[in-house]
Amino acid sequence: MAARIIDGKQVAQEMRAELRQECARLKAAGIVPGLAVVLVGHDPASTSYVTAKEHACAETGLYSSDNRLPAQTTQEELMGLIRRLNADPQIHGILVQLPLPKHLNESEVLLAIDPAKDVDGFHPFNVGKMVIGEKAFLPCTPHGVVQLLARSGVPIAGAHVVVVGRSNIVGKPVANMLLQKKEHANATVTICHTRTKDIGYFTRQADIVIAAAGRPNTITADMVKDGVVVIDVGVNRVEDASKKAGFRLVGDVDFDGVKEKASLITPVPGGVGPMTITMLLFNTVQSAKMANGLE
Ligand code: GUN
Repeated sequence: MAARIIDGKQVAQEMRAELRQECARLKAAGIVPGLAVVLVGHDPASTSYVTAKEHACAETGLYSSDNRLPAQTTQEELMGLIRRLNADPQIHGILVQLPLPKHLNESEVLLAIDPAKDVDGFHPFNVGKMVIGEKAFLPCTPHGVVQLLARSGVPIAGAHVVVVGRSNIVGKPVANMLLQKKEHANATVTICHTRTKDIGYFTRQADIVIAAAGRPNTITADMVKDGVVVIDVGVNRVEDASKKAGFRLVGDVDFDGVKEKASLITPVPGGVGPMTITMLLFNTVQSAKMANGLE
């Protein structure tokens, strides 16, 4: 079976068109959803993510506040900025780009963000609410994965989903979201990780494989069954002298091999990536509505 490609760019565009309409309706009621983006230092990948987030806000009708701080920013300075953003009525969402420089205490910073503005869904308050199935801001990449599955018509209830990777940003939350007793969930979920003895033993039983290990070729054709649905969350730079940048992006899945067995598969780039920022916009719009008593 040769796979159908899940076009993340197209799904993201559809969702952004819905959000643009929602922003226009809110604007007519005097409400402009506002996102504050905080970047400390000059990491090239983080800088390009942050720039993309700001462009997406402008294009969709959200206000964005750009807070780029030098690499030597102190914990006190960063905490002061978070407090000001927490108190700013124009701001409905606060995103602190991770990772922070090593001298800063990441968990203290995330804890300081008002949970009502935690559009990344990383505050322990929102993580806890998600785990017990209450309404909460859902982290953007895993939420994007669920939307891609749902909007591609993949049956999730009763499916065996094998998640490869157990990060706090992707593996753990996506596993949690899919096992909830809710729409677009009710899956049987297995989580594999670096200490799993034989990952292939589990992935061969999967109806849906979600690869979020952060390593190229983690999932190869011999590790999946015919007809599997594969979502590749990996973003890995591999050297490529034929590219101007000197590298190209690949996922965690051996795309060319696995696509011959899968029924549906996401490419990298153009799969999960475009969904992440879209879900951030979605959460910020939700937050603005809640702040104005509309949800
Ligand atoms: N760094 C990598 N992914 C993310 C993300 O989803 N949110 C933030 N804030 N930082 C990241």
